[in-house]
Amino acid sequence: MPDLLAPFRRFYRQWYTQQEWSDLEEALQKPPPKIKHVFSFTNKEYVLDRASLLPVQYLDPQPGEKILDLCAAPGGKSLLIVDAMKSKGVLHCNDASKIRLQKMKGLFRDYNVSMNGEGWELCFFHGSGRARAARSGPLYDGILVDAPCSSESHVLRNLRELKKWSPSRSVLLAKRQKKLLWAALRACRPGGRVVYATCSISPLENGAVVKGVMDKVGPAVTLLEERLILPHREAMGPLFAALLKRNH
Ligand SMILES: C[S@@+](CC[C@H](N)C(=O)[O-])C[C@H]1O[C@@H](n2cnc3c(N)ncnc32)[C@H](O)[C@@H]1O
Repeated sequence: MPDLLAPFRRFYRQWYTQQEWSDLEEALQKPPPKIKHVFSFTNKEYVLDRASLLPVQYLDPQPGEKILDLCAAPGGKSLLIVDAMKSKGVLHCNDASKIRLQKMKGLFRDYNVSMNGEGWELCFFHGSGRARAARSGPLYDGILVDAPCSSESHVLRNLRELKKWSPSRSVLLAKRQKKLLWAALRACRPGGRVVYATCSISPLENGAVVKGVMDKVGPAVTLLEERLILPHREAMGPLFAALLKRNH
């Protein structure tokens, strides 16, 4: 194991001091403490990492809005969005993985989420987030991009994942993440908001993605909030979230 870990540690030590990395690595190896969340539409509890609430708090979906969850499966944050919208409005849930999307549909059935009703439309889409966003035009009031990321806690807790890891992983993911965020901004109506989130501790996949896209779009977009939650500091996460507003 030490040989496998050495390049991983070297890569992340670029951004963290010796002490901070040692505390962070230890925290990443433990599952984060979970909380029980109760929804308004069912009394069934949902168990989640408290940090997962932040992207949906930033998005602040309102009843009657049109919301897109671009990378939605397995669906925990979409359930939080349904709850906040009080099953009024339009929620489009997209994911590139058919298997994960099937699981998500099962989760929604288990939690008795209604697919449609008076003033409520819930749709699932299978495919690339970029294609879905390109197809829609600037339609949505709010978009969540809970992007595929390095998920280092998963890598550190799973030997098979650690064996597959390489320093280029975060660089390649950051390229994909920028494309997804860029596509989301184009599918957001002027005045609407986009939340970008990851569970990565790599600055390449967090602040640098947001900055890269903002540099490209210029004054059309404003960064309203940004937060990195690290498990050795806050006993939850890791999670990064940024709230962007499309101005025009
Ligand atoms: C971090 S997970 C999303 C977790 C989910 N939001 C939740 O709260 O349960 C990232 C998801 O992105 C999906 N994905 C990967 N590449 C994608 C792409 N190009 N477009 C859309 N979804 C993608 C993966 O299948 C995965 O389900």
